[in-house]
Amino acid sequence: MTAAADSAPAPSAAVSVGRASMVFNAGRVNEVAALTDIELDIQPRDFVSLIGPSGCGKSTLLRLIANLLTPTSGEVFVNGKPAAQARLDQDYGMAFQQSGLFEWRSVRKNIELPLELKGWAKQRRADRANEMLELVQLPEFGDHRPWELSGGMQQRIAIARALAAHPPLLLMDEPFGALDEMTREHMQAELLRICAAAETTVVFVTHSIPEAVYLSNRVVVMSPRPGRITDVIDVDLGGERDEDTREDDAFYATITQVREALRGAEHDSGQPVRGVDDR
Ligand SMILES: Nc1ncnc2c1ncn2[C@@H]1O[C@H](COP(=O)(O)OP(=O)(O)O)[C@@H](O)[C@H]1O
Ligand SMILES: [Mg+2]
Repeated sequence: MTAAADSAPAPSAAVSVGRASMVFNAGRVNEVAALTDIELDIQPRDFVSLIGPSGCGKSTLLRLIANLLTPTSGEVFVNGKPAAQARLDQDYGMAFQQSGLFEWRSVRKNIELPLELKGWAKQRRADRANEMLELVQLPEFGDHRPWELSGGMQQRIAIARALAAHPPLLLMDEPFGALDEMTREHMQAELLRICAAAETTVVFVTHSIPEAVYLSNRVVVMSPRPGRITDVIDVDLGGERDEDTREDDAFYATITQVREALRGAEHDSGQPVRGVDDR
């Protein structure tokens, strides 16, 4: 990932954000400058976390990439296309803090939903749902209803649904925020395994420093509002990540590096950093 040189996307970039700014309610008393001059290139198979204090614009940036919002100025490309086209082409899956599963549909029917929207035939949908249930290691739960599953299991199903149609890009906004610490660490390991198997590029919003470091090959540090990117930290933990990674010196050293970058970002903006969880 490098800063975009100009407004044209790098041909190989999974995501390219060029000088994007976002102002909500422009010209009104409740005007909010949420993001300023965001430049970000994300390469295929990158796992990039966006970290910063509450209100710094992490979700807004993710929503710009998802084309759920249009930037006030600047450009967003996904897979070399304008984000609006990528959305039409269903180039990405999304998962949020709440699993967003439909309670009246079985687990299997939830996973099949994006495939129905794409017009996949019945048998192909069923086969893919089975594959995804295997991938998230819940093959026996296809006919259950979401409310019969634990929070962690529901999140795994939400990830299965987000990845069912083979989207090259997965966008996640604090997907593990509602889980207890043990389940959360387990889900982080699962997510790495699933995304490696599916060869997916991930943009992941979190306010947990250890979570960002454990998951990512790059951590994008944002300043308090109006959000800017103040640092991009490469994470090199050597080899495969597993439970031992959490005890590594390199893991702690990178956590310290991110924490100091967040303090620097706070200093730049003159505002205290709140809502960053560095446990
Ligand atoms: N739809 C919206 N309308 C007005 N203001 C918004 C909207 N969405 C977000 N904001 C404001 O933009 C800023 C950034 O919000 P957000 O991206 O949700 O931050 P984060 O995800 O980092 O906590 C906040 O001040 C928030 O109040
Ligand atoms: Mg948010």
